[in-house]
Amino acid sequence: MSHEAGWAHAPGALRGPAWLQPPADPNALVQHLWSQTAHKVDGELHVGGLALPELVADVNTPAYVLDEDDFRSRARAFRDAFAAYDVFYAGKAFLCTAVARWVQEEGLCLDVCSNGELTVALRAGFDPARIGYHGNNKTLMELRRAVAAGVGRIVVDSFDEIERLASITADGLSTRVMVRVTAGVEAHTHEYIATAHEDQKFGFSISNGQAFEAVRRVLATPGLELLGLHSHIGSQIFDSSGFEVAARRVLALQARVSDELGVALPEMDLGGGFGIAYTTQDDPSDPAQLATEMSKIVEHECRALGIPEPRLSIEPGRAIVGPAMCTVYTVGTVKDVQLDGGAVRTYVSVDGGMSDNIRTALYDADYSCTLASRDSAAPPVLSRVVGKHCEAGDIVVKDEFLPGDLRSGDLLAVPGTGAYCRSMASNYNHALRPPVVAVRDGVARVVVRRETEDDLLATDMGDQ
Ligand code: LLP
Repeated sequence: MSHEAGWAHAPGALRGPAWLQPPADPNALVQHLWSQTAHKVDGELHVGGLALPELVADVNTPAYVLDEDDFRSRARAFRDAFAAYDVFYAGKAFLCTAVARWVQEEGLCLDVCSNGELTVALRAGFDPARIGYHGNNKTLMELRRAVAAGVGRIVVDSFDEIERLASITADGLSTRVMVRVTAGVEAHTHEYIATAHEDQKFGFSISNGQAFEAVRRVLATPGLELLGLHSHIGSQIFDSSGFEVAARRVLALQARVSDELGVALPEMDLGGGFGIAYTTQDDPSDPAQLATEMSKIVEHECRALGIPEPRLSIEPGRAIVGPAMCTVYTVGTVKDVQLDGGAVRTYVSVDGGMSDNIRTALYDADYSCTLASRDSAAPPVLSRVVGKHCEAGDIVVKDEFLPGDLRSGDLLAVPGTGAYCRSMASNYNHALRPPVVAVRDGVARVVVRRETEDDLLATDMGDQ
């Protein structure tokens, strides 16, 4: 049925946001929002060669389904497109030991930003020399551990941290570092995930001279080997103009370091943040296009400044794991709510919510979803997919056209949930965090199991 057929905008019907158009075929996937092996057979969603209704009959819902081939091919696409660079997979997007191994097997490096992420990486046998360690408030203990483990680079974020590192290297140890700078760029993304403007907690400001001072202090600290400057402007960014401004400012600092301190910094990191398509309104660049644009910018600026080109690195997280995962839920309650003005919004409640995907509530993020267990001939209605938590803001998908005959027991799948969903999942309302099931060539492997009630109670010490 099509938009023109007249069902979509019946009198009093909700229209939703302008970018959301009723689908021409409500049963079809919008393919580019899904992982590469996702397709439907008679209305059943298949990923990695497995029918999801069968899969969840085993593992239950909600469940994150991770398309291993898709993950690996996105990792390879970055590695190949940025062959002259080092590509660090940003583990904060999603990390478990299996994924750390895939990252290593595909020839990427790994960015960790906490002691916990480092633990997972080391447990997976990840080569510490290929790990970069981030964080705005690394403790002395954490730094000691990272240095002792032999991580390849520590990305220094404050003068306090330089002092902490100096106290470690005073014992005769040494480590490679980068200095994280803020380039004063207003990235066009949600305020909470923009990181290169001045008024936030990360990095040293280039404009007020702190970044230069940090470089000077690092260079003056025995045992610290300065690899170069690091800039991460934010996340879910689509246009390269932010990277261009940042690269220009970072390279200008690099030229100043060369002029005034006589040091040619060999490397530079431009961070991550490459956007993905959550809905039809997003139009991300592919890695090859990004690589061409970024290389051109750096080449051009270095030529203009008369400095040698540093070896570049980047840190994509979302763009590798985001599209590789979807979340499968079971529909429970379906409720039509009459709004002021007479329109009706259909609320579809699923068996998860803000505990497995906080991004909608936290960043006002948009997602899409599809009925994953059958075809439906019912006219789609504009629906809102909500969770089962005690909060009105517990929304998974704000607006989606879903079949009007959706009922309890149907499966819904939400694409693009690989990044920052499981990694930011919580036990709110004592929810059990869902498993991550890797699928490939018709085989499913639980790489992170579902939490149990014993897990929930494991830290509850009782009233002793
Ligand atoms: N490098 C650094 C220094 C970062 O801080 C981040 C993300 C990345 C790389 C990876 O960015 P990506 O390529 O994944 O966008 N929780 C938010 C995103 C926070 C990102 C934090 N840093 C979200 O759900 O959108």
